[in-house]
Amino acid sequence: MGQSSSDCKQLHADYLIIGSGAAGLLAANRLAAHGQVLLVNKGRFKDSSTWNAQGGIAGVMSDSDSLESHVQDTLAAGVGLCHEDVVRATVRHGREIIEELIEIGTAFDEKNGALHLTQEGGHSSRRVAHVQDATGRAISEALLAQVAPHANVTRLEEHTAIDLVTTASTDAGQKRCVGAYVLNPHGEVVTISAQQTILASGGAGKVYLYTSNPHAATGDGIAMAWRAGCTVMNLEFIQFHPTCLFHREGSNMLLSEALRGEGAHVVDAKGRRFLFDYDERGELAPRDIVARAIDHEMKKQGVDCMYVDARPIGSTLILDHFRNIHGRLLELGLDLTQEPIPVVPAAHYICGGIQADGDGKTSLEGLYAIGETACTGLHGANRLASNSLLECLVMADCCAADVLKQAAPPASRIPDWDDSGIVPETERIQIKQNWDEIRATMSNYVGIVRSVERLSRASRRLRIIQDEIASYYWKHPVSQDLLELRNIALMAELIVHSAQQRHESRGLHYSTDYPQLSAAISDTVLRPEA
Ligand code: FAD
Ligand code: SIN
Repeated sequence: MGQSSSDCKQLHADYLIIGSGAAGLLAANRLAAHGQVLLVNKGRFKDSSTWNAQGGIAGVMSDSDSLESHVQDTLAAGVGLCHEDVVRATVRHGREIIEELIEIGTAFDEKNGALHLTQEGGHSSRRVAHVQDATGRAISEALLAQVAPHANVTRLEEHTAIDLVTTASTDAGQKRCVGAYVLNPHGEVVTISAQQTILASGGAGKVYLYTSNPHAATGDGIAMAWRAGCTVMNLEFIQFHPTCLFHREGSNMLLSEALRGEGAHVVDAKGRRFLFDYDERGELAPRDIVARAIDHEMKKQGVDCMYVDARPIGSTLILDHFRNIHGRLLELGLDLTQEPIPVVPAAHYICGGIQADGDGKTSLEGLYAIGETACTGLHGANRLASNSLLECLVMADCCAADVLKQAAPPASRIPDWDDSGIVPETERIQIKQNWDEIRATMSNYVGIVRSVERLSRASRRLRIIQDEIASYYWKHPVSQDLLELRNIALMAELIVHSAQQRHESRGLHYSTDYPQLSAAISDTVLRPEA
């Protein structure tokens, strides 16, 4: 059916998928042969992390590599917290997923007739398949080309899911998810009922001031699932990418880890390679270590940034493999082939999320969560580079298979959206102020290095902001800005609360009050009050 708009206020689908990144697109592709799919995304199609992914997708594709080695690297990066069964199942599917992507037209780079595999931090082998430095865009286009022409798929762009609907609010009986309320681009709320709902709504980088993520990454899926009663897990583990461009006009541009994998150095303003002071693997240490080292060095030297010096790679390889990054830097007046580029760590990936099993099943019947919005335990306390695209596609595949095993639930009617008592907005300054306050609080108090005092300060401020937002939300018409604000506020509160539960430093969570790794290994699981 292709792209559409919601002129009706009531829609029905067999399968409602919220989010059209890698996870949502592959799930739509799998389910379209079996029923009507509604694929909803809040911005334009390109506003996903998937579209922006640079480095590539990890998978064991060479004879000199092994599944066991990929498993061990993932477990080591996750610092004891990965769920090994999920790691093994995910890694095992790597080859078939990459082969399927090739079959549907993803033109991965090749060298001498074989896939060119790049290197990234924490990987003991070259195992990252890539399309230059714009892998996510190529994968998105290939998946979309499968999904878009399908007669059973209706795509609703610029539609923002507001909240999930559960039967508890309509019928007696077992609570299950029966669809969602969605804001259309005309400012109207559409009710969508569905047999099965799949959250594929990505991450939450916008909770922080500096992030590599696109605007859509406001943690909506996690916030909606929490409000609907789902359990969430390990939200304290926020991955900061070590090398985001430091430039006022290129605020969320990433300098791919593959640059370091191919030989770029990280240096200070004097050109000194300081990473070996922190870890013997230098530029190729896992991300948590590199990001913390850069952050520490910036604070020690009292400077605003460090630098990626790609000159050791050589111009030929830069122009071939890193053409897009080089081109975007040139537009900003920076030449990757000639000079060190200023970088800072920025919020990049949330390892925690809605607690889900390997098929994406959540604690709420009728609701699945896949991709970055979910937490299966794959990444533990720190994600290994390029394991995320792999996770999205493996989970989407397993999720679709599980969805198809479910019997159709009894039809339920979703009550219309109730906007009685709503008064028009007269000013937006309160919304802007709350956005700024949340992001600054999270960056200053809940960033790469945390402490008991910083977390409790953050918690106190966030409580006040939450109260302000709650009273504003129920009085005024919903808008995308307001919905996202409500979600980042809740996300911030859940991240802080999770961080306060962890009395140790592990992977991406580092506390000056608890610098040791504890012998006891446990996930941080939060459950909404009934
Ligand atoms: P996304 O691709 O983020 O898609 C989320 C979708 O949900 C979007 O369509 C969005 O519009 C929609 N959405 C969100 N909220 C709502 C709502 N309320 N209503 C409706 N729709 C909604 N990982 C790797 O493995 N390799 C890499 O090379 C790599 N590079 C990266 C580079 C960058 C710059 C970034 C930001 C991330 C990178 N990552 C990489 C991480 C990886 O890209 C993401 O984790 C992954 O793409 C997430 O896919 P997803 O399908 O879960 O979500
Ligand atoms: C990058 O290209 O550096 C991002 C890779 C990732 O996040 O996995």
